[in-house]
Amino acid sequence: MAETHLSATIFCLILVILRSSLRVESAIGVNWGTVSLHRLSPSIVVDLMKDNKIQKVKLFDSDPVVLRALVGSGIEVMVGIPNEMLALLSSSPVASDMWVRQNISAYMVKGGVDIRYIAVGNEPFLTSYSGQFQSYVVPALLNLQQSLARANLAGYIKLVVPCNADAYESSLPSQGAFRPDLTQIMTQLVSFLNSNGSPFVVNIYPFLSLYGNSDFPQDYAFFEGTSHPVTDGPNVYYNAFDGNFDTLVAALNRLGYGQMPIVIGEVGWPTDGAVSANLTAARVFNQGLINHILSNKGTPLRPEVPPMDIYLFGLLDEGAKTTLPGNFERHWGIFSFDGQAKYALNLGMGNGLLKNARDVQYLPSRWCIANPSMDLSGVTNHIKLACSAADCTTLYYGGSCNGIGAKGNISYAFNSYYQLRKQDSQSCEFDGLGMVTFLDPSVGDCRFLVGINDNNSSSSKNLCGFGGVWVMLVWVLGFLRIMGSL
Ligand SMILES: *[C@@H]1O[C@H](CO)[C@@H](O)[C@H](O)[C@H]1NC(C)=O
Ligand SMILES: *[C@@H]1O[C@H](CO)[C@@H](O)[C@H](O)[C@H]1NC(C)=O
Ligand SMILES: *[C@@H]1O[C@H](CO)[C@@H](O)[C@H](O)[C@H]1NC(C)=O
Ligand SMILES: *[C@@H]1O[C@H](CO)[C@@H](O)[C@H](O)[C@H]1NC(C)=O
Ligand SMILES: *[C@@H]1O[C@H](CO)[C@@H](O)[C@H](O)[C@H]1NC(C)=O
Repeated sequence: MAETHLSATIFCLILVILRSSLRVESAIGVNWGTVSLHRLSPSIVVDLMKDNKIQKVKLFDSDPVVLRALVGSGIEVMVGIPNEMLALLSSSPVASDMWVRQNISAYMVKGGVDIRYIAVGNEPFLTSYSGQFQSYVVPALLNLQQSLARANLAGYIKLVVPCNADAYESSLPSQGAFRPDLTQIMTQLVSFLNSNGSPFVVNIYPFLSLYGNSDFPQDYAFFEGTSHPVTDGPNVYYNAFDGNFDTLVAALNRLGYGQMPIVIGEVGWPTDGAVSANLTAARVFNQGLINHILSNKGTPLRPEVPPMDIYLFGLLDEGAKTTLPGNFERHWGIFSFDGQAKYALNLGMGNGLLKNARDVQYLPSRWCIANPSMDLSGVTNHIKLACSAADCTTLYYGGSCNGIGAKGNISYAFNSYYQLRKQDSQSCEFDGLGMVTFLDPSVGDCRFLVGINDNNSSSSKNLCGFGGVWVMLVWVLGFLRIMGSL
């Protein structure tokens, strides 16, 4: 009696252990873009990720300064290859070998960088690119796969191609299909991914659906339930994310790869620059998303199989990004440019709410504003100049600083420029219209920033190496010259 009880207990224990080791936990990673005006030192960013237990990061290139900061961090990395490099890599095995050697192999040493994926292009099939990168993708993949094999890395590092959700379409998820102009390429791509055990990587943005379509039911973009569910045969969809995900599942199924693992390469919600882009909406969306993924519910077409991993877009705000898509484009970060959490978010990794960056070196607490005693009628060109260099996107309709008045507008533009120029005293001149103040001019949600000291502490360390060599070279040359003149 007791014996059977014991063996049953052991059996159950083994089952539990087995199940927990077999269960694939989706991981929550982040995209780390660096198109910023105020660049945090990469080592501070890596510490920020470690403090928040973020174990996966996706990059858009292979910047050596960033990769060096990731050395020894234990964070799993997806390195990116910009679309502009695809033509070369597709046509030249030598270039592909060199790319792998310089940008991958160099870091794949013991205690180096844990590179797991290479993103070959970024949304290369985007409709607005009119097919200009399309034909390079598969040939580049084939070359790079060979290069990885030659570097003995093919088993460890997987090639992927992050696609925009505009690669497929349908009114109902179950009818999903890749765009007709992509059918052939997608067939090749998916077969390549499958033979290498790579996932399909897709970027899904319910925010953009809402932003671009005034008929889009707002609550369908979130995960809190909707008054506009989408009924698709026996399946009902309560949020845009699941509907979009299953459209992809159906499209993959149509090509015979309905079981292919899916990774969400980018997903998120901006906090500024549009009416629907605000702190509350971003928190509700991202928290709803994370809880949904970690609940392991999956979707109607993939019950209990959530995406393998998701990478939030993004880690930090990027103030130098183009505003072509909209002013919100510079405000996707879960952290502001200086690594401060914008809102309370639990990434679900047993770590509580987001923790701020440590040891950020701010410039002194001072701001540049419009001098109230001056006639400001001639200020237009100054504002134009300031805002063409600095970021003024929060001033526009839907932005957090849109209501601060005409004088506020001028001060905001002056200050943004002044901080961008590292508080150089001349950068607050504006023909005598600007003045420096020590009182924080921020009003309500409208934050007047103080810049950070991004004097490239980590890269300047490395440059010191070169600097040293130069000094030595000059010294040796000088010595030889002296010797020669003797
Ligand atoms: C390594 O990647 C960077 C961009 O991320 C690129 O500029 C450089 O040319 C690459 N190296 C080679 C040998 O292709
Ligand atoms: C924030 O965004 C949500 C939807 O994205 C919108 O419904 C709400 O009105 C916005 N809040 C403010 C204060 O503008
Ligand atoms: C401030 O600037 C923004 C952007 O140009 C504009 O929409 C707003 O009307 C301005 N405010 C005033 C009071 O002029
Ligand atoms: C660079 O930053 C460090 C702190 O990170 C600071 O001590 C140093 O003065 C800065 N150098 C310059 C030239 O700004
Ligand atoms: C820091 O380094 C990057 C390249 O890594 C460079 O583009 C940027 O201008 C540098 N910033 C400063 C303040 O030196």
